[in-house]
Amino acid sequence: MNILGMKKKIGRVLETILTVGITALMLAGCTMADRTDVKQIKIGVTLYDQYDTFLSELMEDFNQDLTKDVTTEVYNASQSQKTQNEQVSKMIEDGCRVICVNLVDRTDPTTIIDLGRKNNVPIIFFNRELVEEDLQRWSGLYYVGADAFQSGILQGELAAVACNADPSIDKNGDGMIQYIVLEGEAGHQDAIVRTEYSVNTLIDAGVKVDKMGYAIANWNRAQAQTKVTQMIEQKGENIELVLANNDDMALGAIDAYKAAGTPRSKWPAIFGIDGTKVGLDAVQSGEMLGTVYNDRAGQAISMFRLAYALATGGKTDNLGLEDGKYIRLPYAKVTSANVGDYLDRQ
Ligand code: GAL
Repeated sequence: MNILGMKKKIGRVLETILTVGITALMLAGCTMADRTDVKQIKIGVTLYDQYDTFLSELMEDFNQDLTKDVTTEVYNASQSQKTQNEQVSKMIEDGCRVICVNLVDRTDPTTIIDLGRKNNVPIIFFNRELVEEDLQRWSGLYYVGADAFQSGILQGELAAVACNADPSIDKNGDGMIQYIVLEGEAGHQDAIVRTEYSVNTLIDAGVKVDKMGYAIANWNRAQAQTKVTQMIEQKGENIELVLANNDDMALGAIDAYKAAGTPRSKWPAIFGIDGTKVGLDAVQSGEMLGTVYNDRAGQAISMFRLAYALATGGKTDNLGLEDGKYIRLPYAKVTSANVGDYLDRQ
């Protein structure tokens, strides 16, 4: 072969190598693009306060539900609506396909709704329920939570059964139950509704009650302890019943009685709501007479399934959506009789 022939052959070989290489690169590029598109789903989550006991347990469940093709971006809004709005904006920029929002201020969802609508990113609000008019403002808005009315009613029923069955709860024997209420945040749907329905259910069940006071303790154990300590100082051992809007505040009341050195026989009957791990332990030990289980595992899996379906264009009609927008998990009563079933789920 002369020099010219050799040059031509080398040229053809190089051309073939180049063509195969480019095709391989194109295929690889295509596969990578497909993988990013179909298999890598990013879901954003922002919490009003990551130190809230119930929500941190809900997030533990949510993280366990995640499938391998999902990554998450999770933020703590530290009780600032402004911070939360910025987090949602950042998550949209980062490519989150759905964002789960535990609103800081349930009356102020406008910025987040507008961001979702403008960028066509569905928003699943959870746990802190916004008003229906806001949820109707765009088709890509959803709510996952529970029915606050039911939790109040069930707590009232638990307290009524205990008061009717055990005359020793009426420590001073005046035929009335002297009670206090520990409330969550002012303006929170669960706090407002639980307080009202718990007390009304108790009264409807024929228990005569005498309200000795109430305190807002923001779902928080330490704040509840401080408030109940003040009440013990003012009212001595006269409180016969504590209705707390959640377990952490019920536990704060228990902490206050322990710190005050009140003998166990002189404690009031104490009821919570949530069935957190510490709450269930207190029911098992008998320090809390009962709680109402707030189905965090059910809420977590429902939120994940809905987010996944929305992110992948999948069906949502088999997910139990009411009015195409709401998923609400039922509450359940927990006492020493069935607490074992709930502890087994932990
Ligand atoms: C309630 C729950 C409280 C607290 C609150 C935060 O549903 O019972 O413990 O987590 O949500 O929004």
